[in-house]
Amino acid sequence: MPALYAYAPGKVILTGEHAVVYDQPAIAAPVNEVRARAAIEANPDAETGKVRIIAPDISLDTSLGDMPADHPIATVFREVKQELGIDALPALTLTVSSTIPIAAGLGSGAAISVAVSRALSAFLGTPLSDESVSRIAFETDHYYHGTPSGIDNTVISYARLVFFTRGKPIEMLTNAQPFTLVIADSGEKSLTGKVVHGLRTRVEIDPQRYRPVLEKIGTISQAARDAILEGDMIRLGILLSDNHFQLQQLGVSSTNLDQLVRIAHEAGALGAKLSGAGSGGNMIALVKSTDAHQVASALLSAGAVNTIVTTVPRS
Ligand code: MEV
Repeated sequence: MPALYAYAPGKVILTGEHAVVYDQPAIAAPVNEVRARAAIEANPDAETGKVRIIAPDISLDTSLGDMPADHPIATVFREVKQELGIDALPALTLTVSSTIPIAAGLGSGAAISVAVSRALSAFLGTPLSDESVSRIAFETDHYYHGTPSGIDNTVISYARLVFFTRGKPIEMLTNAQPFTLVIADSGEKSLTGKVVHGLRTRVEIDPQRYRPVLEKIGTISQAARDAILEGDMIRLGILLSDNHFQLQQLGVSSTNLDQLVRIAHEAGALGAKLSGAGSGGNMIALVKSTDAHQVASALLSAGAVNTIVTTVPRS
């Protein structure tokens, strides 16, 4: 039997990261230029239930039974089996690979969980819905940080531009205009759990200082939603830059990210901000499509280690 493949895109947060953990709205878009891939093939020579897991990118070659129970891949297997009401698995080999940079704010962890959930459920004969896949990826996100908002698994599972508020129905955004983003990697690793935890401590110690900033970010996401629906890219750019300023106030930016945001503006971006957990990782610049190349070149000259140009199509 040939291998069965499933894929999941990366993601960027347009507005509202961190605030979304505190029940404010946020907007995120899929990034189809990078993706995670899961391949599953039957292993008829191995004993029933023997599951081999290979991830060449991180030199992993192990068996499911040897993985810690809270490992994201072990969690996906448990959840998919439970969802499908299956007790025993046939012998199989799962190979996972990804072009999504790790610890960079582009959703690499959630994308692997989504790709594996899809491949495994299809291999077992019942492909899971986007909703189920998203729920499973949410469970696995706890491994990376204790209080995920759910935005990463949502945007990656549905692969649509989403307006997301924790505990509320997901709104798929219809953008009046396609828009182009330059995504630039600062080269510093960003560990979501650490950054989210650090901010939580600051919020608990000084809520008067931080709560109003989180609320302000919520109003930025509301206004950005309107700008997207109206196709007002100038306004969206201003809102992204204002969001970056608020993220600086939360203490989740870095010298490199601030520098890349400044360079993006100088090179003609309509707006720019860090994206994801921050304290490293990626930033995004909203650009006119004709300016994408010059903004990407300026960011690379200023020290970005990689850039991706992506267009969010009209939907
Ligand atoms: C991570 O992509 C976005 C954060 O808001 C964390 C979360 O929403 O779970 C920093």
